[in-house]
Amino acid sequence: MAKKRREFICQKCGAVQAGWMGKCPDCGAWDSLMEQAILPEDPHVPGAIGAYGSLAGEGMTSERAGPSSGSGFAAGAIPISAPVAISELIDSEVPRLESGLNEFDRILGGGVVPGSAVLLGGDPGIGKSTLLLQAADRLAAAGHDVLYVTSEESVRQTQLRARRLGVRSPKLAVFSATNLDLIANQIVKSRPAIVVIDSIQMVYKPTLPSAPGTVSQLRQCGLELVYLAKATGCSVIFIGHVTKTGTIAGPRLLEHIVDTVLYFEGDRHQTYRMIRAVKNRFGSTNEIGLFRMTDGGLDEVTNPSEMFLANAFEQAPGSVITAAAEGSRVILVEVQALTTLAGFGAPKRKVSGADANRVAMIIAVLEKRAELHLADQDVFVNVVGGVKVVEPSADLAIALAIAGAYCNSVAPPRTIAIGEVGLGGELRSIGQFDARLAEAEKLGFEHAILPAATAEATKTKLTVHPCKRLEQAIECLTRKGK
Ligand code: TYD
Ligand code: MG
Repeated sequence: MAKKRREFICQKCGAVQAGWMGKCPDCGAWDSLMEQAILPEDPHVPGAIGAYGSLAGEGMTSERAGPSSGSGFAAGAIPISAPVAISELIDSEVPRLESGLNEFDRILGGGVVPGSAVLLGGDPGIGKSTLLLQAADRLAAAGHDVLYVTSEESVRQTQLRARRLGVRSPKLAVFSATNLDLIANQIVKSRPAIVVIDSIQMVYKPTLPSAPGTVSQLRQCGLELVYLAKATGCSVIFIGHVTKTGTIAGPRLLEHIVDTVLYFEGDRHQTYRMIRAVKNRFGSTNEIGLFRMTDGGLDEVTNPSEMFLANAFEQAPGSVITAAAEGSRVILVEVQALTTLAGFGAPKRKVSGADANRVAMIIAVLEKRAELHLADQDVFVNVVGGVKVVEPSADLAIALAIAGAYCNSVAPPRTIAIGEVGLGGELRSIGQFDARLAEAEKLGFEHAILPAATAEATKTKLTVHPCKRLEQAIECLTRKGK
């Protein structure tokens, strides 16, 4: 007789182990492994969607499968078993459902792909429900049937939010349910083009032995909904909560089964919200979408630089503007630094909005190559407005901000600084410089401190100050400031 099999699932990350352990070897969480009975069905076999499995045959004949369904590309690949020539595939259009909410469409790569699965993660209260209700309304107004499943809030709560947002499309249906079978039956019955599940963590399958909200529930419910989406050709958008440490509960499971993963970034206490695509099978992952939280919901931000540069023309010592490239767009941001004499012990280095390791390296270069004595100084670096700038081309602005703070010199007015700083103190050239300089020009900047190699290549109308080394750039900053 076969031995009874057991498995242990980490409730933090979803990793599966053969035996119990005090610490999860995958995510390092303590006492998080729980014993689970092994599921009778293999969820990786499409047939495992059981009751809805019959759809796989007829789903493709639905009118929504569109003209390209002959090649089986648009509406999910499940029912098609014959190989198709790639030349045929690339010529067939992949239709997208556009919401008209440009910031939202762009991070998805140009709209929602039919039959795709999207995961939107973020801290509680950051605006996930607000954004998706608004997007659902726009999609419904564009003629697509949308089913908004609220598993967290009652229909009445959603009604209040909808009233506040002015959402009233007749093609948008709200459905309050947490039972997976009810949700699946409703999808099969009403055949919407898009289903929003708000949130996936509250959905449960009654036949599973584990409690709602556990990793095995999340995995099974997520998988079944994704298969159902592929079989019926509807797109499904999951809302997922992020845990305190910044990961979605059971992240690996959900991130692997969906096509696109979007994260809401930003601070609940600031008005700006940023969405970043961290995985996208149908578009670039560098894209960001910017929104502003208002009384009437989330507004698109079409001119981000203006928003981050509110006071940029009255600069204090230790403040430098740079142009950061985020995906296909350039954002001008202000980097601020402050240095003060440290008290006892090791000096503090506190960074917000930039990479702390990168800042530590820049401080070391300033110390060694530019001979600034920062060893006894506390250094604070902040990127204004709650954006996070991680690309190396912000190095020069960070270095100049720290140098400016230390020497108490104000950067020359209407000047931006862009460049990567090497360990030898040399300035390295940067990518996308034309787009960055054009954006600066558009916003009224007049001077640019650039690496010499970049300065040679550009044809910008700004007055360029080419610098081979960091020391030159610092001189340029202090000389003009007097
Ligand atoms: P919500 O979408 O409920 O967040 P999530 O689904 O990510 O948990 O939005 C929560 C916050 O947004 C809440 O604190 C109130 C605020 N808000 C506004 O400022 N304006 C609005 O029009 C709406 C609907 C919400
Ligand atoms: Mg919500």
